Amino acid sequence: MFYPPLKIGLLGGGQLGKMLCQAAADWHLDIAVLDPTPDAPAARLCREFVVGDFRDYETVLAFGQRSDVLTVEIEQVNVQALYALERAGKTVHPHARALEIIQDKGKQKVFYAENGIPTAAFELFKDEEALLRAVRSGRWRLPLVQKTRTAGYDGRGVAVLRTPEDLETKRLSGPCVVEAFVPVRTEIAVIAARNPADEVVVFPPVEMDFHPEANLVEMLLCPARLSPLEAAEAEVLAERVVRAFDLCGLLAVEMFLTQDGRLLVNEVAPRPHNSGHHTIEAAATSQFQQHLRAICGLPLGDTSLRMPAAMLNVLGAPDFFGPARYEGVEALLAEPGVYLHLYGKHTTAPFRKMGHITVTAPTLEEVMAKARRIRDQVRVVSLPQ
Ligand SMILES: Nc1ncnc2c1ncn2[C@@H]1O[C@H](COP(=O)(O)OP(=O)(O)O)[C@@H](O)[C@H]1O
Ligand SMILES: [Mg+2]
Repeated sequence: MFYPPLKIGLLGGGQLGKMLCQAAADWHLDIAVLDPTPDAPAARLCREFVVGDFRDYETVLAFGQRSDVLTVEIEQVNVQALYALERAGKTVHPHARALEIIQDKGKQKVFYAENGIPTAAFELFKDEEALLRAVRSGRWRLPLVQKTRTAGYDGRGVAVLRTPEDLETKRLSGPCVVEAFVPVRTEIAVIAARNPADEVVVFPPVEMDFHPEANLVEMLLCPARLSPLEAAEAEVLAERVVRAFDLCGLLAVEMFLTQDGRLLVNEVAPRPHNSGHHTIEAAATSQFQQHLRAICGLPLGDTSLRMPAAMLNVLGAPDFFGPARYEGVEALLAEPGVYLHLYGKHTTAPFRKMGHITVTAPTLEEVMAKARRIRDQVRVVSLPQ
């Protein structure tokens, strides 16, 4: 029954949580949010906001007991509490086992290997000494990519080691997964959605351009510049991955298209994703509404693209820390086909995600030209102290 609506519990109240709440408002769905930050972006948009740590067992257990469906906008939540809630008969989407695998880049890679999902060659190491021995013995060669197994976020847990000097100065400590360095032609993401009736749909592939210094996605383009065959293969692969995880909700599948034309899965996120923000304005269904449809057992929405789009992250300017001030907003809002989203984070920091801008136009060429022209128009700074 659609009404009264299910009580949705959401772990995490950042910008993804805020945009989920915005989508939920269209149908007046009932969302409660758990986040440790009292003025988190989602705080003012939900029916109930609970201040608490989503990494803490007791907190998640108590919060989850009060919802019909529990979901996440961040992976780093207490999975033991989710297992306990599942045993008690609660609906948890994505399920605890999928989250447990996805939280750990090592377990993720093993999962791909076991399920025949193409991914870069890899090996798990218990510490950096073991990695050094493997390189010295010639079993692993440079360049290689080292990733910490847990708690890597926005590029901070990833080191590309190209030279013996990098191996000395840039290597990361702790348990890690080491991957062959992939010669990438294009990085893409495909967001899939699955509901409890085992329906699966995928959004058109998006192309990701990286900021060289911050290692964050700087511009995203949809449709990705792929051949029709490559795009179809990427969509089929994303569908295979979401079915392998057997989860309900969104699954964003980050992939590499290699220089020799192979598709490899890099990593996944079982929630709304940066690479789907353009769907709010540019697709028939937004990724946020799609996630709600999927976890509430509703029919999945049309994923077709209405018009080409780019997404730009609005990042905190380098060297500014403190209460956020936005420069250039008025000029930006005067542009047609430009949509600004500000997340409402109180303080800025260098490269912190403060908002995003979606740019639309009749052709991808026009979208890219407009995105390049406006990309530096909004600056997030802080008043001098
Ligand atoms: N095996 C690889 N070969 C080449 N580049 C890689 C490889 N793995 C990761 N990268 C690069 O590093 C970026 C971040 O790695 P990723 O595993 O996606 O971590 P994060 O959690 O920071 O998103 C990727 O988007 C890609 O640009
Ligand atoms: Mg990534």
